Amino acid sequence: MMPNAAAPATEGSDRSVPLHVAIIMDGNGRWAAARGLPRAEGHRRGVDALRRVVRAAHELGVLYLTIFSFSSENWSRPATEIGDLFGLLRRFIRNDLATLHSDGVRVRVIGEREGLEPDICALLNEAEELTKANTKLNLVVAFNYGSRQEIAGAAQRLAREVAEGKRDPASIDADTLGRYLDAPDIPDPDLIIRTSGELRLSNFLMWQAAYSELVFVPIHWPDFDKAALESAIAEYARRERRFGGLAVKTGS
Ligand code: IPE
Ligand code: IPE
Ligand code: MG
Repeated sequence: MMPNAAAPATEGSDRSVPLHVAIIMDGNGRWAAARGLPRAEGHRRGVDALRRVVRAAHELGVLYLTIFSFSSENWSRPATEIGDLFGLLRRFIRNDLATLHSDGVRVRVIGEREGLEPDICALLNEAEELTKANTKLNLVVAFNYGSRQEIAGAAQRLAREVAEGKRDPASIDADTLGRYLDAPDIPDPDLIIRTSGELRLSNFLMWQAAYSELVFVPIHWPDFDKAALESAIAEYARRERRFGGLAVKTGS
């Protein structure tokens, strides 16, 4: 009999609180436009929301929090906006890294590093290196990330091993490919939340989302807070996850 590869690790099963929450932080621009403010102000307030939500996730018992902070496709935005977003990432790491570290947060980064400015790469590396022994909360930052690019990268590495005679193509199954993704040791997200009312994944964790519960909330990211996270988690707890099998309740 085939094992159920999509089933979560035992520590994630039968929990009303998801082990791994992933968030598409959307709606900064519309939040600002609704207030007659520049888009940059929406992004700035989005960082405040992120600080709140990192704290709230930990308080609620979430062990992995993945946040979509810049997509591979966001390069199509005006250069000024890209500059604002990169500036905020720089400031977030410079200002918050010490606090994240003392709070026991381990920072991980997924996405393409090549082509990023050297100082950004240095900051991302510093954040990962400084916090690598922390265990309270894993904060996975998806930066310059696209799921198709991640899967294509995995395929490329596997193809290279085959070309070098180090791998038999018949040995490649879904688990193998999964191990060549950016953060193979991190369990798949149990819950994916998207703010702002958009109903799509926008190239976020498409492989890992195979059996994630999706919750779409109408509020814009700068307004997202602990209560909104709690209510998304409550909705998750009401869902029945089946992984292709028969009823396995997420709630207790
Ligand atoms: C999310 O807010 C931030 C990023 C995508 C980087 P948006 O900038 O997409 O805001 P909207 O969707 O235009 O309102
Ligand atoms: C997804 O939001 C990317 C991030 C939140 C970083 P977008 O605003 O870029 O997505 P689309 O373009 O509306 O699909
Ligand atoms: Mg958007």
